[in-house]
Amino acid sequence: MLDIVTLGDEVLREQVDEITDVNGEIADLAQNMISAMYHGDGVGLAAPQVGLLKSMFVCHVNGDQPRVFINPQIIGTSQELLPYEEGCLSIPGMYGDVIRPATVTVQAVNEQGKPFKLDAEGLLARVVQHEIDHLKGVLFIDHLDDKQRERLLKVYSKKMRK
Ligand code: NI
Repeated sequence: MLDIVTLGDEVLREQVDEITDVNGEIADLAQNMISAMYHGDGVGLAAPQVGLLKSMFVCHVNGDQPRVFINPQIIGTSQELLPYEEGCLSIPGMYGDVIRPATVTVQAVNEQGKPFKLDAEGLLARVVQHEIDHLKGVLFIDHLDDKQRERLLKVYSKKMRK
């Protein structure tokens, strides 16, 4: 089982590299990331969260199938913004309301190397944006206002010391 790194690990703050060859190793990694995501009871997991600076993430939201996104790019967003309470397997037990576009269009390659385009809405749109943030070293707490973030980090560090 892949280990999930948590807040404080520098790898969560780095930029990823594009994946130039979608081979069997990448397909295996995607499967292992899906397993780690299920194990952690999460709905999305990005490669930096398992210590790898590769441009890929996996997700599986309720009512959908597991999906793999390699070299994802958001190519369109709705004007409409929505708040939604987000959490992250790398900041366990912490949640905060993040405002993001309600729908996005994302372009990526799947684990077979096949390009695809997806119009995502609802929770899927949310997860896609959260995971693509991870590929840029951005965490959901970065979207909170200073006061909210300080409060969250205080509770988190207390929790981690136990
Ligand atoms: Ni996350």
